[in-house]
Amino acid sequence: MKRNNTTSNNIYTLLLGMLALVPATVLAAPTGQALSFTCAGCHGTDGSSVGPSMPAIAGMDPEVFVDAMKAYRDDQRNPTIMNRMAKAYSDKQFKDMAWFFAGQRLHLFPQEHDAAMAARGAELHKKYCEKCHENGGRPGDAGTLAGQWMPYLEYTMDDFLNGKRKWPRKMRRKVDAAIADEGQEAVPAIIHYYGSQQ
Ligand code: HEC
Ligand code: HEC
Repeated sequence: MKRNNTTSNNIYTLLLGMLALVPATVLAAPTGQALSFTCAGCHGTDGSSVGPSMPAIAGMDPEVFVDAMKAYRDDQRNPTIMNRMAKAYSDKQFKDMAWFFAGQRLHLFPQEHDAAMAARGAELHKKYCEKCHENGGRPGDAGTLAGQWMPYLEYTMDDFLNGKRKWPRKMRRKVDAAIADEGQEAVPAIIHYYGSQQ
């Protein structure tokens, strides 16, 4: 008995000694960058995904990022995979990742697009979308549309139009107006415009 106690005391002392040697950073929660390793397989190592249905998330506005993660976690969007991903993290970890990705430069990849449709889409964008998606839809507080992968944009617009994703405030009116003016080509034209940006 006595011997056992001494042994466990020794182990305890040894463990305390080891803890003292571990630098504080190792014990701290993982940083946004460390957390982002899990995302790299689909979104690229720096958030510029290579394609075509995985959205780029580099340079994304941190608030939009956190809102997106919460929407996935709470089953408010119609995702293929992100609901399961998002359920694994805390709000604090969403924020840490948001700031990491916000600091990454967005690399855009050339996408095949129809030039005439993109030109028409540019006008429609200016008239109906630019107010919220500023600078042609570059990363901002309504997300990233410029240069975003076109298949991602296509199924995202389908989700909005088919009631599978909640409309951002006042966006629906503008999309409806664009379709009323231009017909069913309106949304594809705007998507070709975003796809034309590099
Ligand atoms: C297996 C592939 C995969 C992994 C791993 C993955 N994602 Fe995603 N992500 C997607 C897909 C696909 C979408 C589009 C929504 C969907 O279908 O789930 C998406 C969408 C997103 C969006 C929304 C982008 C926008 O423009 O609104 C964010 C933010 C995001 N992911 C963050 C992350 C983070 C952070 C991680 C790592 C913790 C991660 N993802 C891991 C595939 C993945
Ligand atoms: C009144 C403001 C407003 C207008 C006008 C608007 N949007 Fe949006 N849109 C938003 C906001 C805010 C978000 C991001 C929040 C969210 O995802 O719920 C968004 C998100 C999106 C997304 C999803 C992005 C992603 O990464 O998942 C697409 C696609 C989009 N808008 C397309 C358009 C198009 C096309 C038009 C013009 C026909 C338009 N929007 C007009 C406010 C607007």
